[in-house]
Amino acid sequence: MTRGVMLSLATILVILASISPSSNGYQIKKGVFYTPRFEMTPGISVVKYYYNSDFPKGHVALKSFRAELVDDEGQILPYSDVYLHHSIVFRYYQSRNLTIPDLIESEVLPKVDGFTQVESSGPCNGVHRHYLGLGTEMRGTPTVVPDPYGIEVGDPAAIPAGHDERWIVVVHAIDLRDTSSKILCAECTRDLYNVTLDQFGKPLKPDYEGGISCCYANCQCQVKEDANIVARGVRLRYFLEWADWDSSLFLPVRVHMLDVTDQMKKFKTPNGQIQTVHDCKIEYTVEACNEVNKENCVDVRKTITALPKGGHVVFAYAHIHEGGINSTLYGQDGRVICSASAIYGHGVEEGYVVAGTTCVPEPGSVTIGDGEYMVHETVYAAERRRTGAMSIFYLLIADDIPKTKSFLRSPLEVRPFSFFLFLIF
Ligand SMILES: *[C@@H]1O[C@H](CO)[C@@H](O)[C@H](O)[C@H]1NC(C)=O
Ligand SMILES: *[C@@H]1O[C@H](CO)[C@@H](O)[C@H](O)[C@H]1NC(C)=O
Ligand SMILES: *[C@@H]1O[C@H](CO)[C@@H](O)[C@H](O)[C@H]1NC(C)=O
Repeated sequence: MTRGVMLSLATILVILASISPSSNGYQIKKGVFYTPRFEMTPGISVVKYYYNSDFPKGHVALKSFRAELVDDEGQILPYSDVYLHHSIVFRYYQSRNLTIPDLIESEVLPKVDGFTQVESSGPCNGVHRHYLGLGTEMRGTPTVVPDPYGIEVGDPAAIPAGHDERWIVVVHAIDLRDTSSKILCAECTRDLYNVTLDQFGKPLKPDYEGGISCCYANCQCQVKEDANIVARGVRLRYFLEWADWDSSLFLPVRVHMLDVTDQMKKFKTPNGQIQTVHDCKIEYTVEACNEVNKENCVDVRKTITALPKGGHVVFAYAHIHEGGINSTLYGQDGRVICSASAIYGHGVEEGYVVAGTTCVPEPGSVTIGDGEYMVHETVYAAERRRTGAMSIFYLLIADDIPKTKSFLRSPLEVRPFSFFLFLIF
């Protein structure tokens, strides 16, 4: 086990210890689940959509989630061997009349009657639709929902008649053994994948230098001439904690994901209403800086975003890729809503993000106003170009704070456009 993992395990224990499961009147349930086994050879990119994955049944409050890649012996695979590009968990309703295969390798979700994907709460609808998980940081940074909150799922009143609620676990892994460049294969650099078409068969733009359109299912990254092509069995192991839903014990949270590539636009419709459109591109390219001394130069990306309905921040972290330093969400008045940093591994995992810092504010102490303009800022090291850079804030937001709370912050005043935003752009 690397020092990075041990460090992050210590963080997990601290977080879990503060949950104090028994004192809050509910029974915590814990489960360790596995996806089916898949095989990988050096350089291969594997993308699997496991429908009907193992997941807690019934009306429950999800309390924690964590995921890691393991080999056939159950040993954790270092990211320098198998890179977990992402592992995400989607929710859907399936009619009992409908049969869909448990494994779909394509990224096209079935458009059939009786299948409804249940999206998380935006704002990147259709792009970031999942509930749990993101990338490599999922191994060292569990998503933890602090008491008295829970992600409410399986509510029989919400599931359409004749349907079941089910879950898709998506795994995107890249085998980095014996590749020409581990880090460039992990960044999905086009040169090393030799691809001309994207996952939908459309020609890639000539200036597209790398990213997820170069490392979809079965794409092959260049391996060394003397590469030892041996197949290896891999599975995603995921850890969940949950409790039976009880509305006297739990307050529900919404799952939001903010993307630094989002270009939010507001416009007036013909009938005079203001409509907001989000354009979340998932990834971007960090260009190398021009400075002579490249050691300390950084790329700073900023965007303005907003949530139609705000609330109290319960939990937050940022998904950033290799080279990422930190990501910060500022409120309209310049206050820090959450600042989260990437945590890097050691030894063979040096240079890989293995965890991230989280924000778990006291309930009610960090609040986002309805429609409040926020600045999402992300800093990457820019000593060289990096393709497929990402910065996604995973936010759990609640409408309510526990009733026992002795103080209540006054609701945020939302002004149209502040001096602060002027300053930084
Ligand atoms: C399932 O099929 C039955 C019989 O064909 C039909 O009556 C029912 O409405 C269907 N249910 C759903 C959820 O599609
Ligand atoms: C790259 O792909 C083309 C076909 O698209 C193939 O002819 C060529 O041999 C490939 N090059 C390498 C280095 O794999
Ligand atoms: C993010 O990282 C940069 C570079 O190390 C640092 O200058 C900046 O203060 C950090 N931002 C925050 C909010 O910590």
